[in-house]
Amino acid sequence: MTETRSAKPAPLVEGWSREGFLGERAGVIRSSYTPDYISVSGPHAPRRLNIGDVVCADKSDPGALATPFATARSGLALSVSRRCQAMTYVMRNVEADELHFVQSGELDFHTDYGFIAGLPGDFVYIPRSVAYRVTPKSTSSLSLVVESPGALRFDTPAPAGMIHFGEHVVRARPETNGAPDGPTTLLLKCEDGITRFEKGFDPLFAERQLAASSPVWKLNLRHIQPVVYWPHGGPPSHFLASPNNELLLYTLSARPGNRPPIHVNADYDEMIFYFAGPDPWGHVSEPGTFTWVPKGVTHQGPPENAAIGYSAWLLESRTTLRLTPQGLAASQPMETGLYGVKRDSAD
Ligand SMILES: [Fe+2]
Repeated sequence: MTETRSAKPAPLVEGWSREGFLGERAGVIRSSYTPDYISVSGPHAPRRLNIGDVVCADKSDPGALATPFATARSGLALSVSRRCQAMTYVMRNVEADELHFVQSGELDFHTDYGFIAGLPGDFVYIPRSVAYRVTPKSTSSLSLVVESPGALRFDTPAPAGMIHFGEHVVRARPETNGAPDGPTTLLLKCEDGITRFEKGFDPLFAERQLAASSPVWKLNLRHIQPVVYWPHGGPPSHFLASPNNELLLYTLSARPGNRPPIHVNADYDEMIFYFAGPDPWGHVSEPGTFTWVPKGVTHQGPPENAAIGYSAWLLESRTTLRLTPQGLAASQPMETGLYGVKRDSAD
């Protein structure tokens, strides 16, 4: 005679951490899989969207700005641009550093301090108060723009290894473009809106560049090496940070190791951006997918040890994010196990 017994759930470790991956930690054993939830209502709930689904004014209007889909009270903003014609103005953001991540298309960045060609997978960095004009070289483009109120700086675990700074951080090259162009609109982007200067010349025109090194650079996601603690994986390491670690950027591309633990991130909202396959990352398989787990929400996340690989990056924000109406319209509720769409929650 066979004895039948109800299976006892395996104990599950749930962690809690301060300062992202850098601070105090605690753990507890629970019998339930705590990322699960039946339903949720209210603004502090995990969601996912594809940035290609955000309705962008600059897709058809070259005089429009990028469209914010998430913002925070610190001034952090995440926007989408789908530009297919050259900007009809020059932009100078006087409140934030800008990091443009090119998802698709080719974008020429003409700036106060030189020229950079943005290609898919590139982070293009334009610090505060450096003016620029974007000119697409392709008939369509898709990019995500991070506005960081604090100055972003490289902050890698060692001076070499994660990034080959000499080879892969490409500085804008000086450019002279003949003679100053005609009348140009210069927009200064501030906390309280846009201030418009009409100039009788192109303010980006330079006869020559004096500084040895431009403050404008680009770095491709594939040239940032994921850090692994062999054999279990361990936490990822950031490569960019703003003061007081308000904002931290990591590569989250495929790497060996175990699945992340079930955990609560006490201090940071976590945003993961899936750039490209071929492998899926859990239930995320569409390039351009953006996932958001607000701080304090129990989650785990998919395994990262894809055999073939995928490319993704993680943004941690100390200030709490909220989706804008455009972001909400493009997004869906998300479960926090494998980051699939949550079909049965209150939306
Ligand atoms: Fe996490």
